[in-house]
Amino acid sequence: TQRLFFDCDTGIDDSVALLYLLARPDVEIVGIASTAGNVPVDVVTANNLAWLELCGRPDIAVHVGSPAPLVADLMTTEDTHGPLGVGHAELPTPTITPSPVDAADAWIEAAHAHDGELVGLATGPLTNLAIAIRRDPTLPSRLRRLVIMGGAFHAHGNTTAVSEWNVAVDPEAAAEVFAAFGTAGAPAPIVCSLDLTEQVVMTPDHLVRLAAAAGSTPLECPDADDERGTRSVADNEIVRHLTDALRFYFEFHHDHEDGYFAHLHDPFAAMVALDPGLVETIPAHVGVELTGTLTRGMTVADERWMPAGPNARIATGADVDAVFDELTERIGTF
Ligand code: BDR
Ligand code: CA
Repeated sequence: TQRLFFDCDTGIDDSVALLYLLARPDVEIVGIASTAGNVPVDVVTANNLAWLELCGRPDIAVHVGSPAPLVADLMTTEDTHGPLGVGHAELPTPTITPSPVDAADAWIEAAHAHDGELVGLATGPLTNLAIAIRRDPTLPSRLRRLVIMGGAFHAHGNTTAVSEWNVAVDPEAAAEVFAAFGTAGAPAPIVCSLDLTEQVVMTPDHLVRLAAAAGSTPLECPDADDERGTRSVADNEIVRHLTDALRFYFEFHHDHEDGYFAHLHDPFAAMVALDPGLVETIPAHVGVELTGTLTRGMTVADERWMPAGPNARIATGADVDAVFDELTERIGTF
């Protein structure tokens, strides 16, 4: 069993990542931290609680994170993830409530409780983790592994020309987190950047297969312009909400990138967190641009490892078919 702490801004692809993690019988989710990003932190928390309740896992604690980035004003992206962060899905209002322990303290408690064993996964802005490391600088050296979905090195940015969303929302936090690693004993995080995650393209066929695997009457996946906003008819409740969420994500990508598909950034990072052998990694010293007028939020990788040694391992090489086979098989158990 791997013990994992999940920090996320749920979020459509964060939702898929969460369901994937819940479907893995060999994983113990030690805690979930909500971070402000795709939608405000209270909406993220409600989504995390709702998914847990739907999946029959009210025992997993959800910890509320900071409502705002370290320095920047919060920006959210309902345009990408829908008014409530889960696309067209209308999740039931959760009856369970968040933990009184805040997200940063939860990171610290989890790292101490599972010293040297804990796998960290961050699929949202790094605000909570940065605050946790400020509170306890020993945190990085206590982790077994950290996987971050964030950054863009050779790919274009998806928020500005050069900046990826999770880093763009809280560049100072990302800078602090990278700076805290690469010292003796703190394992360099594996970074799943847009260079990698934009290869993970989900098509309507994948969606239909996924629903069928979960025992739902095979879904018709309408074209983007056909039936926007209509509800899925899947008879499996979890799959119905998931497909309602994902169809919004397809529509967003259709509007902005001219194709009916979705990039599954966060689920792939979740797979890498559990099975790092899925990717090759390039050691690099990663810094985050904080002051450039055109380049704020850009991640810069120095593969010469200057000025210090590597503080990151940049993941490359996604086997897309294998990703969707794995996702379909696991979600199919719901
Ligand atoms: C990241 O931005 C968010 O909108 C997604 O959930 C993902 O974590 C991709 O840039
Ligand atoms: Ca996310």
